[in-house]
Amino acid sequence: MKFVSQIKNLTPYVAGTPIEVVAKAYGLEKVVKLASNESPLPPFPEVLEVITDQFDRLNRYPDGEARDLRAALARRYAVEPDQVIIGNGSCELLIWLSLILLEPGAEAVIADPTFLVYEEVTLARGATPVKVPLTNFGNDLKSMAAAVNERTRAVFLTNPHNPTGAYLAAADIAAFAAGLPADCALILDEAYNEYVEEPDSQGGLDLFASNTNVILTRTFSKIYGLCGLRVGYGLCSPEVKEAIDKVRQPFNVNTLAQAAALKALSLESRLEERRQLNREGRRQMYGGLDRLGIGYVRTQSNFLLVEIDQLGVPAAEVPEELLRRGVIVRSGAALGIPDYIRVSVGAPKENEFLLEKLAELK
Ligand SMILES: Cc1ncc(COP(=O)(O)O)c(C=O)c1O
Repeated sequence: MKFVSQIKNLTPYVAGTPIEVVAKAYGLEKVVKLASNESPLPPFPEVLEVITDQFDRLNRYPDGEARDLRAALARRYAVEPDQVIIGNGSCELLIWLSLILLEPGAEAVIADPTFLVYEEVTLARGATPVKVPLTNFGNDLKSMAAAVNERTRAVFLTNPHNPTGAYLAAADIAAFAAGLPADCALILDEAYNEYVEEPDSQGGLDLFASNTNVILTRTFSKIYGLCGLRVGYGLCSPEVKEAIDKVRQPFNVNTLAQAAALKALSLESRLEERRQLNREGRRQMYGGLDRLGIGYVRTQSNFLLVEIDQLGVPAAEVPEELLRRGVIVRSGAALGIPDYIRVSVGAPKENEFLLEKLAELK
């Protein structure tokens, strides 16, 4: 068999190991997963109810155009339904965007480090990722702007940033967007938007409204706690949606996911309880790490970077040592920041468990 030449440039995404796998491998009764920026809370009970209501319809294909969900999102964001795209997780939107925007000879500007999928989807198209190092854990918009040239078809910008949790002010993103060529897409990935505490957190929507080259992606995976169902959405111009409809598989978002997301969206006002839990969790983490004398990066998201180069074991061994003790975290080494681990903000007991295990490694 002869694979396309790009395959040799790609590496498989290494996802956080599932709890059951770690429990079995290490013979542990208690395992806490703080590796994948998931919600520690299950979906809202009303959402679970609509999912079960759909079980006896599973002999039918889902609505391939996700009409109800697109209409609800269009109402929510005061846009037209043909400006809304639904993906099997927002990751799928990133793949489609690469399919319609990138090809050999084209470039995509991304931060370094950033969410690994941007680089992978770019390389998969035979296009070139142009990596711009972060400054002080945040996106360096000035250098990113300087990296844009006539070959640049897309800029992937995450706000708040993954893996650092750093936040860009809406006005700074708007100024950056204003300097982009009209034919270069700005893919603004706001997977963690709902956790942001800053008053300008909805600025991405204004930017989308005033710039046809801005594509905004968000997800039901994080604060809504639906990552197991895989449903994300994007706001884009009708032209982008039309192009995506030509490349996507016909029934990309399953029936349960569509129903769940629709219900979840109607419960948006209840997200404040979840924001509060995250806020308290962040405080708990900061306080616990301060007491242990362990450094960290302040975050606007539901995860944070924890410094591991001053512990009693070498930084490279920390993720494995935590795993053996029943805590799954994201190794910074895989992200190009080997002196850090990225940990999700969990429920209070989970955060406490992590802090206890880190204390053992001091
Ligand atoms: C920055 C960022 N974007 C997108 C995603 C993808 O989320 P999903 O495909 O579950 O919507 C993630 C997941 O961790 C992420 O961190």
